[in-house]
Amino acid sequence: MNWEEFRKRGADAAHWASDYHRDLRARPVRARSKPGDVLAQLPLCPPDAAQPVDDILADLEQTILPGMTHWQHPRFFAYFPANAAPISVLAEYYVSAIAAQCMLWQTSPAATELETRVCDWMRQAIGLPEGFSGVIQDSASTATLCAVLSMRERALDWAGNAEGLSGQPTLRIYCSAEVHTSIDRAIWISGIGEANLVRIPTGGPTRAMDVAALRAAIAADRAAGMLPAGIIACVGGTSAGATDDIARVMDVAEAEGLYTHVDAAWAGSAMICPEFQNLWAGVERADSVVLNPHKWLGAQFDCTTHFLRDPATLVKTLAIQPEYLKTHGADGIINYSEWSVPLGRRFRALKLWFLIRAHGLDGLRQMIRNHVDWTVALAQRLAGVPGFEIVTQPMLSLFTFRYAPPGAGDLDALTQDLVNRINDDGRIYLTQTRIDGALVIRFQAGAFTATAEDVEMAFDVITELAADMRPV
Ligand SMILES: Cc1ncc(COP(=O)(O)O)c(C=O)c1O
Repeated sequence: MNWEEFRKRGADAAHWASDYHRDLRARPVRARSKPGDVLAQLPLCPPDAAQPVDDILADLEQTILPGMTHWQHPRFFAYFPANAAPISVLAEYYVSAIAAQCMLWQTSPAATELETRVCDWMRQAIGLPEGFSGVIQDSASTATLCAVLSMRERALDWAGNAEGLSGQPTLRIYCSAEVHTSIDRAIWISGIGEANLVRIPTGGPTRAMDVAALRAAIAADRAAGMLPAGIIACVGGTSAGATDDIARVMDVAEAEGLYTHVDAAWAGSAMICPEFQNLWAGVERADSVVLNPHKWLGAQFDCTTHFLRDPATLVKTLAIQPEYLKTHGADGIINYSEWSVPLGRRFRALKLWFLIRAHGLDGLRQMIRNHVDWTVALAQRLAGVPGFEIVTQPMLSLFTFRYAPPGAGDLDALTQDLVNRINDDGRIYLTQTRIDGALVIRFQAGAFTATAEDVEMAFDVITELAADMRPV
């Protein structure tokens, strides 16, 4: 295809996208494919001869789309959202067309400078004080890896990068049992080792880290000759929205001289609403904070904003400047690839810039407030239906529940059965998790185009299918 043909095909794609989104409610949310269904339809070998674009697009409709789960469906209540607002899709279209590689300031000054500005807009929006600097990473997992590498190198006075970890003191990092598995991965990749990720017990309605236990664990490790390096706190954990008491965690970190990272990958978007900022009071004392506008806010994947109180620590950990990457003759510039693990960088700031301007913070706040209100109302309604138990109360727009009618027997099996029935039905999509060992169903409302009626339909589907399961 050449760019002249693209003119028509690109316009067709825009029409297709608009129709796809208009008609999404008619599709089952989760793909109905069985394992191997799609693979069986794909030729074993690549074509030697060019194929007509019409054929390729026909295969997209017939082979690929039936195997897609529709993450932008308004009744996607599973996992966390991965919202792609239309304005952000448009931004990505421009980004794809320009296709710049934005690793250094000079490889696209506008991309770097827009990233600086738009991160600062986000900083203000979520209530972080001046002095925090932001960077857009590809994922929260990468941001957490950056934070863990910073913890490691700072604790070892940058000897880890230079000499490796052999012969170094044993590093220790602390978090609760509620953190996302991206923390485990960062610990593995950084060479610190899972055994040195110390899980602090949690308690209370927010499932927060027990700060006295945290303090005791650090003291015991020091007494045993180990080297505490950092604490990872969570705001809005993945299973049930567990949220640490950030201010109390920071008291410990400051007293112990430890680097802190706050993972608010999902819940962080809600901090654009001032009334939710109390959920992470004390965050202004953290060294590193991550949130994903690509989850709830609407900046299409991938778009992770990572805020640093002192970016020099991260830059000292990651920056390498061979001659071929040097920017001569330009002072005071930022090369964001020195703040990230990969060298290459997409132009991610454009979609955040478009999104914030096109919706305004007020528009985005309203979306989040709606989701929270509708979720709280749903949890209250479900709690009133005999047999339903709310297992964890709503944290923003996430709660967990199960169906436990009297005499139900194996509740885990019943819960899994209900999740399966709901997802096979196709009108909504939910997922399960474990809370204190018990299988429960997660509900989160976060789809960009969800309405109150969509959330009400969740109530109808859940109660209707549960009623079908009642022993007669
Ligand atoms: C709390 C939390 N942290 C981190 C992540 C990882 O996010 P990413 O896919 O951007 O790496 C998730 C993903 O759902 C999450 O829920």
